[in-house]
Amino acid sequence: CGIVGYIGENDAKGILLNGLEKLEYRGYDSAGIAVQSTNDLKLFKVKGRIATLREAVDETFDATVGIGHTRWATHGEPSETNAHPHVSQSGRYILVHNGVIENYQELKNDYLADIDFVSETDTEVIVQLIEQLANETGSTIEAFRKTIALLEGSYAIALLDKKDKETIYVAKNKSPLLVGLGEGFNVVSSDSMAMLQVTDQFVELMDEELVIVQEDQVTIQKLDGTNVNREPFEVDMDLDDIEKGTYPHFMLKEIDEQPFVMRKIIQEYQNESDQIKLDEGVRNAMKACDRVYIIAAGTSYHAGLIGKEMLEKVAEVPTEVHIASEFSYNMPLLSEKPLFIFISQSGETADLRAVLVEIKKLGHPSITMTNVPGSTLSREATHTLHLLAGPEIAVASTKAYTAQLAVLTILAVDTAQAKGIELGFDPLKELAIVGNAMEALCDQKDQFEKIAYQFLYTTRNCFFIGRGMDYHVALEGALKLKEISYIQAEGFAGGELKHGTIALIEEGTPVIALSTQEHVNNLIRSNVQEVEARGANVCMITREGLERPGDDVVIQDVHPLLAPLVTVLPLQLMAYYAALHRNCDVDKPRNLAKSVTVE
Ligand code: G6P
Repeated sequence: CGIVGYIGENDAKGILLNGLEKLEYRGYDSAGIAVQSTNDLKLFKVKGRIATLREAVDETFDATVGIGHTRWATHGEPSETNAHPHVSQSGRYILVHNGVIENYQELKNDYLADIDFVSETDTEVIVQLIEQLANETGSTIEAFRKTIALLEGSYAIALLDKKDKETIYVAKNKSPLLVGLGEGFNVVSSDSMAMLQVTDQFVELMDEELVIVQEDQVTIQKLDGTNVNREPFEVDMDLDDIEKGTYPHFMLKEIDEQPFVMRKIIQEYQNESDQIKLDEGVRNAMKACDRVYIIAAGTSYHAGLIGKEMLEKVAEVPTEVHIASEFSYNMPLLSEKPLFIFISQSGETADLRAVLVEIKKLGHPSITMTNVPGSTLSREATHTLHLLAGPEIAVASTKAYTAQLAVLTILAVDTAQAKGIELGFDPLKELAIVGNAMEALCDQKDQFEKIAYQFLYTTRNCFFIGRGMDYHVALEGALKLKEISYIQAEGFAGGELKHGTIALIEEGTPVIALSTQEHVNNLIRSNVQEVEARGANVCMITREGLERPGDDVVIQDVHPLLAPLVTVLPLQLMAYYAALHRNCDVDKPRNLAKSVTVE
């Protein structure tokens, strides 16, 4: 979910709605704003997108203070009632919340037995509790502080008091939240992107801090009431980077940006003598560890699987890859000197943060590989490696994935060099070749649109197969397709399909096969024959030098270790066109959010 708040002299409605639009990547199943004028407060809530909310908002209502929310449902279905802001029983307090209150049932039973709850959300408990405690103590700030102290779980909160038009109360724990500073106004936002429209100066908030935001003043306090001084930081982002421009969808724009991202990464990770330049701390951490544990979710997990191969094959570092949500609650036996690498586009995924918190308690070092400088995981890990992909807006990750693979390559090569391992190739040159190969594919969009139409337009399901690295790309290809086109898609190790899933192959079932690794080229082609013999409609993607007559896509000859960076492009484009022709909402697929800040 995403939160915004504004207090100042300008039109709060417009600023909040513009901000929420930029936060839609965090969820978009319902939304709302509460805005205050000198003598009135109005609430607008809808089920659906910010565009729908915009239509519902009373244009003529003149407000200079307000809070807003876009939701990704956790407790309670997406509906107008369950949409935020939530209001206390008397109507005095209005609140938006991102996160999950784990003890909401206990709080309800212990403190709020007499309250008639309107919604099914854990959030309503917070606002009712604030009112209850305000009635008891006679002070809003006291009630807010006491409520915060009672909450267990994750939260980013913004609160309005109808009787005090000069303050927004804010607090956070585990969920991200920033305060933005302006001349004659201040703002609150889950992400700086949402408020870049009015300021580039932001103050980060730490867990269990509460903030009193006023037009001309921001006061940060710890729970015990002591004040905290913190300098703002400047966000250096171009507003154009977060606009679609002439593209119909962000996803297509971001697919097209991949060759440039490769060049950006090469530039940033290169020193004057064209060698890799990497943070000294990262290099030392890699040298000192006896095992790397990669922790990630979704697409970033798929990048991690390939990262393992790179770290083991190139740098000879034993590496495990774990799904973040599994690791935190089922921690495997760790080696003596583990190093954790958190791979996260957003740097905010709560499942990863839960692991980071645990391993920090154990005193282990960590690296966050992220696309968002200043994100929670970046701030809290020992070291950060930047992906430099530029803002990724489409929910389905594309350029961040290939940037992750490129930075993992650089990390693996740098570690190998630090250990004195002979490489036999120039990684930055190879990445430049990858950029060119990507560009060639971006120029062949028509071909992928045709393939998507031929294989995926009407199908119910689709299988992706590959061996070794190609298998990991197959997993990513399947995820891309199911995320945005809702076709049931699965990625399999080529040799494994015959051990069960081949039962699902029927006349015309699409199977997309990848073959970029010479030592398994013959084997994967046997697997292709097995499915073709059962009626499958196979689309073969291979690398120059390994192609056979009839192959559908032949990517340029790149270093085999880097082939995943290139073969994923046809899969991204095919998923895009499949979704487009099936009339799906490409950039905002149903039920998903780009950044998931709840566990
Ligand atoms: C969400 C998104 C996925 C993404 C995953 C991990 O589930 O829908 O596309 O891969 O989170 O996100 P991260 O920002 O940590 O890479």
